[in-house]
Amino acid sequence: MAHVSIIGTGNMGQAIAAVLGKGGNTVDLLGRADADTPLTGDVVVLAVPYGAVADILAERAAQFAGKVVVDISNPVDFDTFDSLVVPADGSAAAEIAAALPQSRVVKAFNTTFATTLSTGTVGANPTTVLIAGDDTDAKTLLASILTTAGLRALDAGSLRRARELEALGFLQISLAAGEKIAWTGGFAVVA
Ligand SMILES: NC(=O)c1ccc[n+]([C@@H]2O[C@H](COP(=O)([O-])OP(=O)(O)OC[C@H]3O[C@@H](n4cnc5c(N)ncnc54)[C@H](OP(=O)(O)O)[C@@H]3O)[C@@H](O)[C@H]2O)c1
Repeated sequence: MAHVSIIGTGNMGQAIAAVLGKGGNTVDLLGRADADTPLTGDVVVLAVPYGAVADILAERAAQFAGKVVVDISNPVDFDTFDSLVVPADGSAAAEIAAALPQSRVVKAFNTTFATTLSTGTVGANPTTVLIAGDDTDAKTLLASILTTAGLRALDAGSLRRARELEALGFLQISLAAGEKIAWTGGFAVVA
């Protein structure tokens, strides 16, 4: 069992909180009004838009030290809908890791639409959360929280794979926005 702090009470914050609560983990779900509430979780999930992350990191700064920090963002350029706003050879997760040298940053959840976390399925397949990061223990901890909660988790490699996860997330959003797939659907993983 773990204690998790989730910053952001929107679609993903609520979906992740509900999933993790199922496994007997304890969850703090923090909105804007909780800006003065300390981060007590061993794991902190940044369930906010990419554009809000830098301010949150700056505001809470040292509170992230020693924690597993989970970046779930899809840093899509929503003006053009034609690219990501991070460098092609980088990722939002890499930027967050650089800003938080005393934290263990992992990328996860960005390829699973909120509904598929809540239902545990993508079509006829189980929902799989892909996790990328450089710290094996951090990935194992998050994977164990997820599997305890009834979801599947898969180690997608080092934090450099966050770039591919963000590309995959962007493609999935593009397909849904173009009504080629439903927002309740998306990519599934068959082992
Ligand atoms: N929705 C999905 O299916 C999905 C799937 C994969 C990844 N993601 C990623 O998940 C993240 C959240 O998406 P979402 O769909 O949950 O968005 P959302 O429903 O719009 O929720 C975003 C939440 O972030 C909060 N927020 C914004 N700035 C904040 C700040 N400075 N401090 C505290 N809270 C702040 C918002 O609060 P206010 O309401 O007060 O503005 C809102 O509760 C994004 O990075 C997105 O790319 C989403």
